Amino acid sequence: MEGLVTQMMIAPADENRKHKKAFYFRVIAVCAVIYALIAHFIRSNVLRIGYLLAGMLEYSLTIKEKESLTLQLYSVARERFEISRGLFAWEKTWFSSALPPVPANILITAAGRGREAAALLDGGYSVDAAEPLRKFAIDCAVLPGIRDFFWADHDAVTQGAMSGSGPAAALKGRNYDAVIVGWGSLSHMISRDERKQFLKACHLLAPEGPVLISFFSHDVPPMPNARFLNLGRSAGRRIGRMRGVDAYFDPDDMLNWDAGFFHRFSEAEINALAGALGRRALFAASPYGHATLLPPAG
Ligand SMILES: C[S@@+](CC[C@H](N)C(=O)[O-])C[C@H]1O[C@@H](n2cnc3c(N)ncnc32)[C@H](O)[C@@H]1O
Repeated sequence: MEGLVTQMMIAPADENRKHKKAFYFRVIAVCAVIYALIAHFIRSNVLRIGYLLAGMLEYSLTIKEKESLTLQLYSVARERFEISRGLFAWEKTWFSSALPPVPANILITAAGRGREAAALLDGGYSVDAAEPLRKFAIDCAVLPGIRDFFWADHDAVTQGAMSGSGPAAALKGRNYDAVIVGWGSLSHMISRDERKQFLKACHLLAPEGPVLISFFSHDVPPMPNARFLNLGRSAGRRIGRMRGVDAYFDPDDMLNWDAGFFHRFSEAEINALAGALGRRALFAASPYGHATLLPPAG
């Protein structure tokens, strides 16, 4: 009898606990589902807005404005391009096979905070560097052991090497053992002509040495045929006309919200650029588009 009473007292308490547990689970599950719905809504709309804006910017900005916007996007990018990150494995393999042995004088353009420069200085190279983004330049310019630093973009390097004017004027007449065009940065030159001129300047700066270029390749998929991208493009064309902007747009130019505007190069394009200088492009394997423009056989 006594046992039965105890059982009767325990049973409702157990039931109660079970109900409470199930109730809280339902509340938690509803919250999780609401969160997933909100996250999905935000993600897909952020993506749509991203496509809309990208399409609009493709057609409403001049090449110079695109290059300037690229630098502004770099200045707020999540990636910090820390010097301490050191060289990537592919860069170690590439540099060790393509660069002349130490001691050699190397110019690195688009050097960022100095990630590549610091590694080469450590390895005993003599390094000059250029970088246009002030936020990065202030770190690179004071790297221990660095020689000349130019607060200059690729166009300014071209101008300096060719005509001895502008922020990289001192480059005129220099003879480096190699030029390294900093990680991915050739792709940030949106103008075909300026790319050609810049590589010509690199060629003049290292007439007998290799020019190492890295770039976004056709491994990067093209922009999708997304509805919002196309909507943005037609708005961009109208804005471009209003602004008097020439609506030239290369389908291999793309916008990445972390790295700005970039051009995807095909191997044929790189070969043509190298050929125009009397050089041969030696392509490295994946994972990233990079090639050595070998000097004309002496
Ligand atoms: C991917 S980051 C690489 C930075 C550095 N080389 C590294 O690997 O840490 C690309 C660099 O290109 C620079 N850049 C962007 N547009 C440029 C341009 N038109 N001329 C020269 N540099 C540019 C950016 O400021 C940035 O430092």
